[in-house]
Amino acid sequence: MNFIGTYILEISYIIASVLFIFGLKMLSHPLTARRGNLLAAFGMTFAIVATILWHRHNNERIHNVGYILTAIMAGLVVGWLIAVKVKMTAMPQLVSFFNGMGGACAALISLMEFPHLGGESHLAIMFHGEVLAIILAMVIGSVSFAGSMIAFGKLDGWIKDWKSPVIRVINICFLLIIIALATYIMSRGEVDPRGEMIWMYILIGIALVYGVFFVMPIGGADMPVVISLLNSFTGVAAAMGGFLYNNQAMLTGGILVGSAGTILTILMCKAMNRSLGNVILGAFGGSVAGSAMEVAGNIKEITLSDASVLLNYSQKVVIIPGYGLAAAQAQHICSELDEMLTERGVDVKYAIHPVAGRMPGHMNVLLAEADVPYEKLMEMDDINPSMPNVDVAVIIGANDVVNPAALDDPASPIYGMPIVNAHEAKNIIVMKRGMGKGYAAIENNLFYNDKTRMLFGNAKDTLQKLVGEIKNL
Ligand code: TAP
Repeated sequence: MNFIGTYILEISYIIASVLFIFGLKMLSHPLTARRGNLLAAFGMTFAIVATILWHRHNNERIHNVGYILTAIMAGLVVGWLIAVKVKMTAMPQLVSFFNGMGGACAALISLMEFPHLGGESHLAIMFHGEVLAIILAMVIGSVSFAGSMIAFGKLDGWIKDWKSPVIRVINICFLLIIIALATYIMSRGEVDPRGEMIWMYILIGIALVYGVFFVMPIGGADMPVVISLLNSFTGVAAAMGGFLYNNQAMLTGGILVGSAGTILTILMCKAMNRSLGNVILGAFGGSVAGSAMEVAGNIKEITLSDASVLLNYSQKVVIIPGYGLAAAQAQHICSELDEMLTERGVDVKYAIHPVAGRMPGHMNVLLAEADVPYEKLMEMDDINPSMPNVDVAVIIGANDVVNPAALDDPASPIYGMPIVNAHEAKNIIVMKRGMGKGYAAIENNLFYNDKTRMLFGNAKDTLQKLVGEIKNL
């Protein structure tokens, strides 16, 4: 029975791992993302149930099943309630919070397992591989937990950036102490691990403080990149748990989270044309102005009635959404404008820049919430070649992602970042509240372009008035 049970358990973990992989694959498209999420969650449930039913340690079943199920139910209810209530704009905070919980789990598991290393014998031998996995999971998990909590506080607005050159020195000192302590613990070969617990407590304390100091100096607007990086940390910490327990489902899940987080971090940095080091050291996290070339020309406004006529009689309109659309919560009225123009025979598309907004897929999620058909959302690289044929580019609350300085001003901090080529359209309408700068805190020559007309005001109000004007045409 034991053999058959072990066999079934191994197969169950492989099935769970396959479900994670398919679930992750399905997350890459809005149409399948919901099902992908459910599939991966089913995989996890399957792995948990299989463990409870078939896992054996010294021929004994898992104890405390009642406690385990109660904890799972409590987590399920709390997680469900939070997820149902959270606003779309607070999603980055939520991701950060949940990620922090994953890191805390990995760290706590390590702390619990360390005294049991080498079995129950009093003079147990600490095997180096196991100790290394435990220490890595504990340190990385703790950094991820503390860092994610700080990121959560910053995104929620109750923790401010703390920039100081001293922090870099402090951080290097913390890292050196962590490495020294980990080496010391690993060097303690044939001893009772229970006697070494004090060092583990010191190590986890330092790792937690390091997590706080690691995130404190990073600019608030750089948080999405940091969250993605911390996400990959949590994945690595969980994978270490997989090594420790020889558990394939935990290992696969951890590796998937770790590698997906790393890839996402790299993609975000690339799309912003910045190195990870530059993000971590906080080069322009929204506060330091860049040296862009002088802006030339005049700002020209357009009236609502002129804008409505221009849009109504166009053939091709491309909407370029940005952070301001999210800030104004104007996605529903934007979708209404799109529907109205489409009904009147205008070909309306959306140009989606990979880092428009403040989190990966921000615009896709926002527009999906307003039921904009997926096929209307065009990726930047796909829509750019057709921009010269576009009658009107309507920029709603976007700034950096349409700034031509990225193409032609080598002195600009965003030079080299790919942009949506709105400047190539025949007419450009920009909706924003005033002449406020974007995240990179630099001027935008596009607003002074001869083809550009500004429609000042909160994006939601402006769109509402515009829809009203078009209705009357
Ligand atoms: P931004 O460059 O940040 O510009 C947003 C513009 O929206 C501002 O210029 C602002 O001008 C306007 N705005 C704000 N609230 C508004 C409202 N209620 N109604 C109308 N307009 C409003 O946005 P973007 O073009 O989307 O670029 C995103 C930036 O964030 C990029 O630099 C990117 O690198 C960075 N970033 C993105 C991510 C991800 S993963 N998406 C992560 C980190 C950083 P006014 O003040 O004049 O209204």
